[in-house]
Amino acid sequence: VPKIVLNPRIKNNIRFVDYDQYRNGSGEKRQELSDLYENGYLIILKNYRFDAGRAFLSSVTFPNEKRAKKIILSTSEHDHKDHAREKEWRMVNEELLAKDPDRIELFRNNVVLANGELIRLVDELFPDYDYTKRMCIYNLSEMLCHNLHFDSPQHSDRSSQLRAFVNLDTMPRIWHLSEPLEDVANRYYHETGLEKTIGLHPREFTRTLTHGVYGDRYASGSRIQDKHSIAFYPGEVWFLNPNMAAHEIVYGRRLLDGVFLFDKKDLNDSTRYYPEMVQQIHLKNIRKSSYWARYWIRRWATRLIR
Ligand SMILES: [Fe+2]
Repeated sequence: VPKIVLNPRIKNNIRFVDYDQYRNGSGEKRQELSDLYENGYLIILKNYRFDAGRAFLSSVTFPNEKRAKKIILSTSEHDHKDHAREKEWRMVNEELLAKDPDRIELFRNNVVLANGELIRLVDELFPDYDYTKRMCIYNLSEMLCHNLHFDSPQHSDRSSQLRAFVNLDTMPRIWHLSEPLEDVANRYYHETGLEKTIGLHPREFTRTLTHGVYGDRYASGSRIQDKHSIAFYPGEVWFLNPNMAAHEIVYGRRLLDGVFLFDKKDLNDSTRYYPEMVQQIHLKNIRKSSYWARYWIRRWATRLIR
């Protein structure tokens, strides 16, 4: 289990889940797990270690450059529901592995193992979401001090997501975890000007909130915020919808990041669909009538589109 320092001044939004109890669990157990996930908890697996491909992948270091940091590597052996990612594979083989045939084969074989295990694990623990895409994203570079933020992915206005994180490294991955989206957004709604994001892509809401409250990604530690500290050990796996809880990467090297998309109709609780949460936060906080007009026009327009 990871090393955790809980901050008693904020909500404890971390839960341990025993793999043996929840794997292929009853309907009740599965629902309990997805409820935790949908409500923005950080779920950490106990009694499980991710070993597939890790001995080799923990020896691969890619440069900390945009092209090499988040590489989607789909493999034909698995049901990723994704295209072949030829461009990504070509970049890895030609640029990062320098066209070395032995290394290319070894790398691919280990990615096949790791992708297979990640898909198996997610299907076992969260089988009730009907995944429309299963992306296995490799970040085999070294990260330091990425300030507190809420994620704001491009797909957040179309799909819900199950996010799984695997520490593939030989060193702990160190995170800070802070408060839930609703708590932070309601507290700073007016101060950060969130009403200005009404009618925009929901990622603008998250960006505005993140920058207003925590500063940009380089401002790590510059503003006083209560947070829990966590060191995830090698081979540990955790789940979090990173749109829903503020998190900071203090240090980390070599991560496998599963982004598995599914439709909002599969959620246990449809009010936990991210764009819906954003709408509810606006509803609760809007004061000026001009912003109300924008809100209702936006609602009307999104219904027309769907
Ligand atoms: Fe993030």
